[in-house]
Amino acid sequence: APSHHRTERLDQDHDGIRRAARLLRQGGLIAFGTETVYGLGGLATSQRTVERIFQAKGRPSFNPLISHFASAEAAFAEANMTIPLRDMAHALARKFWPGPLTLILPRHAESRISQAVTAGLETIAVRVPKGRAVEELLRLTGEPIAAPSANRSGRVSPSTARHVLDELEGRIDAVLDTGPCTVGLESTVLDLTGPHPILRRPGGVTLEELHDICGSTIVVEQGAADGSTPRPNAPGQLSSHYAPSLPVRLDATHIQPGEAFLTFGTQQTEGPQPDLTLNLSPDGNVEEAARRLFASLRQLDQAANRQGLTGIAVAPLPEAGLGRALKDRLRRAAAPRPADQTSPPA
Ligand code: TXA
Ligand code: MG
Repeated sequence: APSHHRTERLDQDHDGIRRAARLLRQGGLIAFGTETVYGLGGLATSQRTVERIFQAKGRPSFNPLISHFASAEAAFAEANMTIPLRDMAHALARKFWPGPLTLILPRHAESRISQAVTAGLETIAVRVPKGRAVEELLRLTGEPIAAPSANRSGRVSPSTARHVLDELEGRIDAVLDTGPCTVGLESTVLDLTGPHPILRRPGGVTLEELHDICGSTIVVEQGAADGSTPRPNAPGQLSSHYAPSLPVRLDATHIQPGEAFLTFGTQQTEGPQPDLTLNLSPDGNVEEAARRLFASLRQLDQAANRQGLTGIAVAPLPEAGLGRALKDRLRRAAAPRPADQTSPPA
């Protein structure tokens, strides 16, 4: 059963990181910040622990997890790569690790990563995250750490320790408070198991940056681009995701009654003015907008209760660079949802 006791809050000093590593080694569930979002970590080698991760999140067990490593060497030891794949994986790792890139690779037959992490697939998702504290945590733990984003399944990913506690207090053993995340959107997921690299999820590393290393042959998965129906070989790419409790409407230039306005740069609405406007980046800086997106969606949800809001209208956003990931998250937030996701969190 998930741990129904107090969740420890740990500082990101040496003692806090040591304690977090110790709890992880003992099979605990520990949330920690990475450069992208907070992860809900546990030993990737322990089926028991990985099952607890799925329980704590309320995540369907067919949706596989990313394993996190202290080094590319440790990550690649879990994979079975032929020469051309090996060259590309190493080139990507040299350029982007530690950093917001996840690689899907063929799983090594003798990999110690639990089948519960990979949902029984023949592939594994690996990444080396960036950040002083998380890098030290992974080094001290000395084992691969499976970590989905530290939110309840289907909800908005957390970019602060407070966000984690709001949803997982009492369900995890500790949260290592590493401050607000510097990127604010999840890692880019690049699948290298087929004849061409496939972008499964746009994220902190942009498609333009990937082109520099992979050439122009990257296939952009349809679901990843427009939030539509998932492909069978990408079980995690559920359409409705990153969802605040308020309904989200995209590319809005007019406000409907009760809607808050989430905007960017100098964009304004025509006609009646909204009661509440949040600007993701008044300067029109897409990195700043990415960093603030998830906190802004949570802020709007909280304001909804106070101000009787009925929805979020989102201004048109740029497509280039990090804009691709930003728009992907907003499309998923706007996608049709199962009834149980539309009610406000308890
Ligand atoms: O930035 C991130 O990636 C954060 C931090 C904590 O590292 N983690 C994260 O994990 O976003 P999660 O579980 O929320 O998203 C992992 C994504 C899911 O869409 C999942 O389906 C996909 O990666 N994935 C994992 N293993 C896969 C595999 N073997 N094949 C295809 N997709 C996979
Ligand atoms: Mg997630």
